[in-house]
Amino acid sequence: MIAAVQDQQPATQSLLPERVPRHVGIIMDGNGRWAKARGLPRTEGHRQGTENLRRVIKACVEFGVPILTIYAFSTENWRRPPLEVRLLLTILETVIDRELKELHENGVRIRHIGQTDRLSPALQKKIHDACEYTKDNQRLVLNVAFNYGGRDEIIQAVREVVRAGIPADDITEEVLNQHMYTSGLPDPDLIIRTSGEIRGSNFLIWQAAYAEYYFTPIYWPDFDREQLLEAIWEYSRRTRRFGQTDEQLDIPDE
Ligand code: IPE
Ligand code: IPE
Ligand code: MG
Repeated sequence: MIAAVQDQQPATQSLLPERVPRHVGIIMDGNGRWAKARGLPRTEGHRQGTENLRRVIKACVEFGVPILTIYAFSTENWRRPPLEVRLLLTILETVIDRELKELHENGVRIRHIGQTDRLSPALQKKIHDACEYTKDNQRLVLNVAFNYGGRDEIIQAVREVVRAGIPADDITEEVLNQHMYTSGLPDPDLIIRTSGEIRGSNFLIWQAAYAEYYFTPIYWPDFDREQLLEAIWEYSRRTRRFGQTDEQLDIPDE
């Protein structure tokens, strides 16, 4: 009986709501290789990657995932050729202009995680306004990690703690959590990375201490609803022990 259940193909109706991750993080990787494999410029890969994001946001809502964090531009991505950096900045701007209304209508709350100081004042304002405009929405929290780095985030959290004059002995995980960009949100349960790379690349390194990772060779522009369902399905079948034993968790033998 258990084997039969385990062999089932993932289908939305068989996802148990309590087993759906509350917070999914996605390292959207492989746009460049997707384009290269088709003899197209990297630009086209990024364009298709952006289109794909719409599908994945919709699928998250459908599957009942309440928080999605997407890695769109890392603190290390400034090392790319200036033209590509410019393109990625422009894409963010265009996406906000083009998608904001629809995201808002679909109940998506946008949050930005990362530093804004290196971005143009116009883009900073656009990001700020988009977050303000959608701040009361409740269906899906969409954290956009743009100019985000996990180490950078920890450094700024520590600076805030020091500036606030918090005594060393009062510094706890909770205190640091409150100073992370993700303050107020639960840690990611599931982190997905597309494109076959098996690394974290400075993404949510503090928050992902106990996240489940899912790696797939699929390039980001091809990571569709079915792929996401597969990832969530696999996640839903994993045992998260958080240091404890199966016996403590009352998990029967296979
Ligand atoms: C992910 O795709 C998008 C960003 C990092 C902005 P890449 O641009 O890294 O694509 P690959 O890894 O070169 O294929
Ligand atoms: C990670 O992808 C950052 C984003 C997806 C935004 P990269 O393609 O930049 O990562 P590395 O440098 O290959 O690890
Ligand atoms: Mg890459």
